Amino acid sequence: MLQPKKVISAFQKNFGKCKFSYFTSPGRINLIGEHTDYNGGFVLPAAVDKGISVAIAPNGSTVVNAYSMDYGATVTFDVNAKEKPAEQWACYIYGVIQEMKERGAQPGGFNCAFGGDVPLGAGMSSSAALESVFGYALNTLFHCGFKREELAKIGQMTEHHYIGVNCGIMDQFASLMGKEGKVIRLDCRSLSYKRVPFNPKGYKIVLIDTMVKHNLAAGEYNVRRAQCEAGVAAIKKDYPEVELLRDVTPAMLEQYKDVLEPIVYKRCSFVVKESPRLLAGCKDLAKGDIPAFGAKMFETHDGLSKDYGVSCEELDFIVDIARKTDGVVGARMMGGGFGGCVIAIVRSGAAKGYIEAVKKAYLAKFNKDPRVINVAISDGAKRWNVRNLK
Ligand code: GLA
Repeated sequence: MLQPKKVISAFQKNFGKCKFSYFTSPGRINLIGEHTDYNGGFVLPAAVDKGISVAIAPNGSTVVNAYSMDYGATVTFDVNAKEKPAEQWACYIYGVIQEMKERGAQPGGFNCAFGGDVPLGAGMSSSAALESVFGYALNTLFHCGFKREELAKIGQMTEHHYIGVNCGIMDQFASLMGKEGKVIRLDCRSLSYKRVPFNPKGYKIVLIDTMVKHNLAAGEYNVRRAQCEAGVAAIKKDYPEVELLRDVTPAMLEQYKDVLEPIVYKRCSFVVKESPRLLAGCKDLAKGDIPAFGAKMFETHDGLSKDYGVSCEELDFIVDIARKTDGVVGARMMGGGFGGCVIAIVRSGAAKGYIEAVKKAYLAKFNKDPRVINVAISDGAKRWNVRNLK
């Protein structure tokens, strides 16, 4: 997380030395289970030690003054304003407030400064961290009474209604519900979940960012979601019990190979295999069979790249190197796709060699440096005691 003194100093420069509270909410990684959340399937994310931090103080009015450290700018709006702000980053804050009001809460005005260290566009959910930190802070300061799970839905609906990305619940759920050292096996239909310790001895998680910035709002994400829904609509005609792709088995989908548009069939064929793959992967983890789990990560990558069509040349290139490097047991693109980073599970002794191999080959091929991102699996959204902050 950012050094608190930077955030506090930004707050004090803008709003003076008044009383404030301090909150953080993290980005996430996801071991396996991609593009399954909005299909009612399973995901296996964890919160990390990078995220968004905010120093915030209610100001007794209905006006929000929000200073973004990244943009070096303040946006001011009224919590009751009918129009959303022009700046997209401020729409996340405005959207969270509107979604809370929709559910009967009355958050008031406040002054705040916020910033983050979760890389933007790296597929680590900087936007969910932003929604979650404001959801959690406003819920606490204005006594709204929402549970963390409800705050996750508030964040997800902010994306749908104020940003235009019809995302699933994974990112916000991980940001709010994460626990140090644990991954969350989440059933995205029922929202029932289990936290599973993840600290395999002798292995490390390595994230390498392609530095290709994805932008889910660009539309392809919503197109994938619509293709999944088109698949469900066709299958539902014969199987009325099917509500989501979660309910479709690979065998059922096969019956529709000639009925569905080829592209819809391809997209659905990835999704119907991904949740069962995740559940089998959880069994590998329970047995401590990390190589078997890693093999499934490679399979996921192939599906995301060839069938789901959300990878890119740079991501495929890094995963290919991972495949050829001794000691890398699994690797795949992570998050929504179209850029962002590759998550790999690597034997501890092989991590340095893998990183060097990728850096060298990537620079030679694309004439730019990839970025290595170090993460530790950490707690979800929290309030910090201001007296203990340094
Ligand atoms: C983005 C979305 C999530 C999820 C992933 C893909 O991160 O916000 O809801 O769909 O993509 O698994």
